[in-house]
Amino acid sequence: MLRRLYHDQPASFAFTPANQAWAEGQIAKYPAGRQASAIIPLLWRAQEQEGWLTRPAIEHVAKMLGLAYIRALEVATFYFMFQLQPVGSIAHVQVCGTLSCMLCGSEDLMQVCKDKISPKAHHLSADGRFSWEEVECLGACTNAPMAQIGKDYYEDLTPARLSGLLDEMAAGRVPVPGPQNGRYAAEPMKGLTSLTKHESGRTKYNGSAQLAVDIGDTVKRVDGTEVPLRTPWIAGSGTVVKERPAKVAAPKAVAPKAAEVEVEEAAPEILTAPRGGAGDDLKLIVGVGPKLEALLHELGFWHFVQIANWTPAQVAWVNSRLGTFKGRIERDDWIEQARVLSRK
Ligand code: FES
Repeated sequence: MLRRLYHDQPASFAFTPANQAWAEGQIAKYPAGRQASAIIPLLWRAQEQEGWLTRPAIEHVAKMLGLAYIRALEVATFYFMFQLQPVGSIAHVQVCGTLSCMLCGSEDLMQVCKDKISPKAHHLSADGRFSWEEVECLGACTNAPMAQIGKDYYEDLTPARLSGLLDEMAAGRVPVPGPQNGRYAAEPMKGLTSLTKHESGRTKYNGSAQLAVDIGDTVKRVDGTEVPLRTPWIAGSGTVVKERPAKVAAPKAVAPKAAEVEVEEAAPEILTAPRGGAGDDLKLIVGVGPKLEALLHELGFWHFVQIANWTPAQVAWVNSRLGTFKGRIERDDWIEQARVLSRK
């Protein structure tokens, strides 16, 4: 497929103030002279803000990174995840057309898109509110056929259900993502055959769908103001009304054994050694290097799940012991990173 810039381009591009601050934060992650490494996150943010990647946006990002325009253009035109033409103002529908989904009926889903949106992929619907395309495997094959709409996956689709989803979105609603046929996650249709006892803290929807519901920005353009929603439990992260997701409920207090360190009231779960004899590689958290990892071990943190469960009070407790690294938890969003890493 020939990937060219769209013929009709806007006159200019600017990040929203919040996105600009976010972009500058990304650039600051890299050592002097290596700022170009931030190109994909910045292009992606520009696309999240506008829906698609315009020429002024590519130029703007190139300028921010001190790159020749052609270098940024090479990246934007190489990766298919970048939309080089306008997408629907409500949603861009990405229907998986790879093996499992194709065998389970993705051609019928694409027919729905052709009928309800546009006969051709990458073209806007008559009212400009929807667009669609066929994409390669999105990694949800056990819930085939599926489509990504906005940021979330809608799985176990039928043509009727996809048609209904589009109608709901057109009416201003955002249906719950995840399986659309009653399945909780990817268990057998006839029910569980193993692990039949659910943990008591099971959320209403499966982890991904629950998080999508909690954050609620499935088809929203990203202007930077929603960042606090990703870490509503971190003090000072903004005015947030959402409850902390049940999946990351506050950790239960661990009764300290006599030999263990004395724990203050606000102290998080502390271990004297990694569980099972091996801890997680905490350096996978962006912003945590070998020195900081050693300090975290010293403080009793060995696993992503420990960090993922810190409450604001516990963040303050850890911060007060991080010395010159104080503030890094919020700055680099450790809790969100740890949540993601602990799910892998
Ligand atoms: S084949 Fe469709 S998600 Fe993998």
